[in-house]
Amino acid sequence: MKIGILGGGQLARMLIESSYKFGFDFKILANEEDSPAGMVTRYFQKGDYNNESDLIEFAKDCDVITLENEFIDYKKIEALEKLNKKVYPRSKVIKLVQDKFFQKDTLLKAEIPVADFVKVENKEDIIKFAKEHSYPVILKSRTMGYDGKGNYKIDSESDIEEGIKTLKARGELMCEKFINFDKEIAVQAVRNHKGEIEVFPVVETVQKNHICNIVRASKNLFDEKIVKKVNEITKKILEQLNYTGVIGIEMFLTKNNEILVNELAPRVHNSGHYTIEGCYTSQFENHIRAILDLPLGNTEMTSGSAVMINIIGEKESEPDMEDLSGVLRNEKTYVHNYRKKKSLPGRKMGHITVLRDNLNEAEKIANECRRMIDV
Ligand SMILES: Nc1ncnc2c1ncn2[C@@H]1O[C@H](COP(=O)(O)OP(=O)(O)O)[C@@H](O)[C@H]1O
Ligand SMILES: [Mg+2]
Repeated sequence: MKIGILGGGQLARMLIESSYKFGFDFKILANEEDSPAGMVTRYFQKGDYNNESDLIEFAKDCDVITLENEFIDYKKIEALEKLNKKVYPRSKVIKLVQDKFFQKDTLLKAEIPVADFVKVENKEDIIKFAKEHSYPVILKSRTMGYDGKGNYKIDSESDIEEGIKTLKARGELMCEKFINFDKEIAVQAVRNHKGEIEVFPVVETVQKNHICNIVRASKNLFDEKIVKKVNEITKKILEQLNYTGVIGIEMFLTKNNEILVNELAPRVHNSGHYTIEGCYTSQFENHIRAILDLPLGNTEMTSGSAVMINIIGEKESEPDMEDLSGVLRNEKTYVHNYRKKKSLPGRKMGHITVLRDNLNEAEKIANECRRMIDV
């Protein structure tokens, strides 16, 4: 069994780590010679996943193909499907998720709660939307947005021109009501070909500079009603999309316990890294199980609480993450070094997960451990 992964970053690396124990081979398509994932498998093709001939060459000896980011051109995935290659998620899902407007519109039509939004073609569209919904609003590029890079908050009419100017280069725009959320929450879920679904625990995510920084998972973090509602929404999305594999879903939880879906990630997700040690079956292993139509693994937590903290680059440097003794002195504490050659501000270099019964204790240790690593 050879599984192809488009991309060679940390998500691909952790997919491989999760499932080589089953005896599967993994093949990577990446531009970079020593990519985080390329280092942990012997099957590597140097190439560009947006180049059709590279893709077709890559797919030749793969039994099934998956991906680690949604910015790949869905038409290229379609081309592989026409050659009867199995690719999960399917091109149809990639196409939908790639464009935040289509994504939200599809969710709305499926009666899934989302923040009010509108398509933006010019300044007047924003003025009209803000009149109906009041400021602030958030302007978003429909495509190629990540880590907040495609977003611009508009507090009043005088911000509009700057917002359009900032985001225009990324493509078409949309506008959303600004949600004064209580918490940002996320969930991962997995569905196999048979339609079996497992939903991972609902977690709280804390972003720093628009980048996921901390993830809190705990058995009693949320009211049962909220967990039930999140599970219902999640299952509905998976079924609507006829989805195969792991999906990450970002949501807002408002002060009056309303849940709004913010965005879908058709892949394993940073908010689910804690599942490697924090759940009986990780999001990575369950993704591989799902695309191969194997029975799904148990997604319950292995301890009362888990806290994941990202190791995000703070400066340009050649990171030295060799000495992990300070971190590893703590029990039930796990560190993942993605082996990126260079650290840059905002670059995800690794992560640490701490398991404890008590959430606050786990978070305190996670923060202490993070400070021991200089990147
Ligand atoms: N409608 C909104 N109201 C308030 N905050 C928002 C809204 N949309 C996005 N954000 C904030 O911006 C962050 C990034 O936005 P998101 O749409 O998830 O884009 P990205 O693709 O960059 O992750 C979110 O995690 C959230 O903190
Ligand atoms: Mg997001």
